[in-house]
Amino acid sequence: MEIREDLRESVRSSLPELSEITDGTLRNLVVDAWAYCLGQSSFRSIDEIRPSGNPDTPTLKGGTQTDHIRGVTRLALALGDTLKEQFPQLPIDRDLLAACALCHDVGKPYEFDPERQARWSSRPAASGWPPIRHPQYGTHVCLTVGLPEEVCHAAGCHSGEGELVRRSLHVTIVHHADYAFWRPLEAAGLLDSN
Ligand SMILES: [Fe+2]
Repeated sequence: MEIREDLRESVRSSLPELSEITDGTLRNLVVDAWAYCLGQSSFRSIDEIRPSGNPDTPTLKGGTQTDHIRGVTRLALALGDTLKEQFPQLPIDRDLLAACALCHDVGKPYEFDPERQARWSSRPAASGWPPIRHPQYGTHVCLTVGLPEEVCHAAGCHSGEGELVRRSLHVTIVHHADYAFWRPLEAAGLLDSN
């Protein structure tokens, strides 16, 4: 497995919320996951990825995919912090929650890659549409770089795939933070439908 240092640097500059993870080993693995996945795509930065939940869903007006990852991370931490304050017995590991949020869409560089999208759309009966969604590929990425199992669970089960399983506490928070990012913006007309 090769991970390019320039892509690591790109990820660090896109995601200042990495500083919310106090464990340096975990923080570096999150950087590795994004850098590895960017390296399997034509993207060189999270900022270049279409700012939407799926390749064919509405985009964020005047925003980037980086804004989504950062926003979901801040929302997930705020949700976790608020609930923990009210219910101290909640077993929230803040480092792990931040890593889960930062990595939930780590498979997007693969699924959103314009070259793959063009190939898949030209022969959907042969390739599947899409053959591999970002949660599936994100799980592969997290396992490959050696992230903890729950971060792999966040990548794999934050979205519709998670309806087939019971989500962990941290992944339940990330799942709701993800929708809490898109839905109010949609309601306010801040998403572009084309
Ligand atoms: Fe997301």
